[in-house]
Amino acid sequence: MEDLRLDQLPGVGPVTTKKLSDAGIHSIMDLIVRGPVELAEISGMDKDTAASIVEKARQALVEGGMLAKDFVSATEIYKRRQEIGRITTGTECFDLLFDGGVETQALTEVYGEFGSGKTQFCHTLCVTVQKPKEEGGLEGTVLYIDTENTFRPERIVSIAKAHGMDPEKVLDKIIVARAYNSAHQTLILEEASQMIQENNIKLLVVDSAVGLFRSEYLGRGTLSERQQRLNKFVHLLVRIAETYNCAALATNQVMASPDVFFGDPTRPIGGNVVAHTSTYRIYFKKSGKKRIARMVDSPHHPEQEVIFGLGEAGVIDPDSETKKKTTKATKSKVEPEVKVEPEVKVEPEVKAEPEVKAEPKTDSVDADAKIEDIPEDSE
Ligand code: GTP
Ligand code: MG
Repeated sequence: MEDLRLDQLPGVGPVTTKKLSDAGIHSIMDLIVRGPVELAEISGMDKDTAASIVEKARQALVEGGMLAKDFVSATEIYKRRQEIGRITTGTECFDLLFDGGVETQALTEVYGEFGSGKTQFCHTLCVTVQKPKEEGGLEGTVLYIDTENTFRPERIVSIAKAHGMDPEKVLDKIIVARAYNSAHQTLILEEASQMIQENNIKLLVVDSAVGLFRSEYLGRGTLSERQQRLNKFVHLLVRIAETYNCAALATNQVMASPDVFFGDPTRPIGGNVVAHTSTYRIYFKKSGKKRIARMVDSPHHPEQEVIFGLGEAGVIDPDSETKKKTTKATKSKVEPEVKVEPEVKVEPEVKAEPEVKAEPKTDSVDADAKIEDIPEDSE
């Protein structure tokens, strides 16, 4: 990677190199990850020039064997897919849901209401990704982008102990970046390439991916701008996961909103933008003391639900700490309880007529979870 410097590209002089470097683009690989549109924005060069530079960068990487060619044989795709790693969740229920574990070269989006266990899930993966390969880990390091100040090393310690791992070693392999605003959050990711390569990062967590964008861009007027920026962030996440063969895990809170009642509550808030780029989407919901996780719209997983719990070990199998029996049956009774904000809509046309107060239709959310479960379970 050392020899792939930007100034080796024709048309990229010291001034452009400096501009790119200021924007976090340090190598040819970074340039590919960002793409021509951003290059044009950053450097002020016209789009055609930018496109041709990115194309040259791409060719250089293809020649160096570091990037797949445009036309690849099925064998090559197969080989690349063989390199996909799976991170065990440390539970039978989630490993079943994920068909082995959370995949690299993909973005996994966990969305759900507050207190549903999204952050606990992220903490758990921070530990399990470090496990030896024969135990379902990837022996990898973690980059944790914390946007809500909810990363808790104490939780890591207890999860590590519960998994029979040395807590100090585990903590050592988690790099935490606290993001203060959405621009900073994006910047951290833009600067992350080198760190990901140098530290064998196999898991990239963004908890929450959407929260800062949501709080900064309020109101309909700013919706499309927020969607654009969020779009950029999420695409960057996906490209990094694919480029560096690491798993990207992003959380997204589904908010109850008193004034807007349309939309499918099982659709994530980050919106269609997130939905289209996420490879896997998991919906978390509370159901009394238990939690339910559901695989939504996966290209190759059956749409199914599992019941899980939260405990010392992070996310746990439902019967591993309590003796409660599990009811794995997927129910199809409709129980509208969570209202999703409208912000998710990508299309400019806003269909937020007040009469949309109709119950949100959910196709198969577990009927055990009633609205009264929600307040009592949030500690
Ligand atoms: P938001 O970030 O608010 O959207 O929620 P979240 O989905 O990230 O929820 P989070 O993962 O923070 O889950 C919070 C819940 O985890 C709490 O209500 C607790 O029930 C549970 N929890 C957190 N720590 C522990 C622990 O050490 N032991 C047990 N048993 N449960 C815990
Ligand atoms: Mg959280």
